[in-house]
Amino acid sequence: MEVLIESVDHEARGIGRHEDKVIFVDNALPQETVGVEIKRRKPSFETGVSTYINSPSSSRIKPKCSYFGVCGGCSFQHVNSKTQIAIKQRVLEDALSRIGKVHPEQMLSPICGPTFNYRSRARLSSRYVIKKEKALVGFREKGKSYVVDMVSCEVLPKHISALLPVLRSLVDSFSIRERVPQIEVACGDAVDVLAFRILEDLAEDDVKALKQFGEKHDVVIFTQRGGPGTLSQIYPKLPVALTYSIPDMNLTFEFGLSEFTQVNTDVNSVLVRRAINLLKLQPGERVADLFCGLGNFSLAIARSGAEVVGLEANQELIDRATGNAARNQLSDRCEFLVANLFIEGCPAYQALRDIDKLLIDPPRDGAMELIKSIGINGPKKIVYVSCNPATLARDAGILVHEHGYRLTSASIVNMFPNTSHVESIASFEK
Ligand SMILES: C[S@@+](CC[C@H](N)C(=O)[O-])C[C@H]1O[C@@H](n2cnc3c(N)ncnc32)[C@H](O)[C@@H]1O
Repeated sequence: MEVLIESVDHEARGIGRHEDKVIFVDNALPQETVGVEIKRRKPSFETGVSTYINSPSSSRIKPKCSYFGVCGGCSFQHVNSKTQIAIKQRVLEDALSRIGKVHPEQMLSPICGPTFNYRSRARLSSRYVIKKEKALVGFREKGKSYVVDMVSCEVLPKHISALLPVLRSLVDSFSIRERVPQIEVACGDAVDVLAFRILEDLAEDDVKALKQFGEKHDVVIFTQRGGPGTLSQIYPKLPVALTYSIPDMNLTFEFGLSEFTQVNTDVNSVLVRRAINLLKLQPGERVADLFCGLGNFSLAIARSGAEVVGLEANQELIDRATGNAARNQLSDRCEFLVANLFIEGCPAYQALRDIDKLLIDPPRDGAMELIKSIGINGPKKIVYVSCNPATLARDAGILVHEHGYRLTSASIVNMFPNTSHVESIASFEK
């Protein structure tokens, strides 16, 4: 059957109508008439995939990656960058208006960086497939648990993508090749790390192979037998530290493999600079950085002359933030406290009483309990960084309609180009 695609949803699927039902079609763009193979029929909607495209959209391009359509990593590679950004911007504006009933006074220019080879962190799946008689290492197939049979990846750094074929052979050579489910990648300023999750102990020969691999390809090798506490460096002998930088602010952050960092280092630098500009900091002001992680925004705030208190649930990250403040000679302006910010009326909110400005960067669930606790006597300025437009919109609605803030600006942050993932930053003023 043929369907006329009218719009596109937040997962980059074309939306059309078929027999009075909405149909979501993979690899289909607005204004295209596409042939559709139905994948799922539900009472209120159907899903499918395009089989041919009549009159392709002017935004359609040839995907750079040969695994497009199969790999669950990127769903937007068939759309040019300009349209990807326009779609993400619309997703954000729609969420703000539909869920939060709010409208930014100004949409700021999108925060962008390189569109390929940008992922400094990745969790690759590894699977020994008996039928294929080989190990596969890569991302999962779209909507499935299979690992893509891939030998390159366009969003990983080039030198990491080049390792995929040799990583397959390495896993293949292990005595426990069926018990290595994941390889974590972390690229720092000076070193690249591969951490092999193992479900059984490695044989002596496996360890030897890992060391040789590390030496030959100049990567640091870890194994992880259980929880994060079982991470163990195999190669080289001397401990190495992972770091990333925000050069523009003369900041360097040390981080551990199990600790959260922003995945796209280039975009992170621009994002942090945008947050600082939006906060319009004055020397001596007191700022709270909530969900502060290892101090990514806190140290930039301190570098700009303000005093900062960072709150975060994870003790390890709080210790790391404290160490990072010392590393950048900013300890005198920084304080970090452990706090669970999902509890309404959490005692740590006391630390927010004399705060002039707030920066909030919560996980996907947003920060509803915290936002509710802010009340009508909240700080004069709030900058909210979000990885989920729906929860940002919900929280923005509370700030504007219940606490008397204005949503002065918003913009998208293209942290994950070629994927449908939408990050954003919004600014609120009393
Ligand atoms: C999106 S990350 C942001 C981290 C940091 N701002 C950055 O840019 O690297 C969200 C952070 O929220 C923390 N977090 C998750 N749940 C939390 C909670 N209930 N209370 C406080 N922090 C929490 C996570 O540990 C994580 O560090």
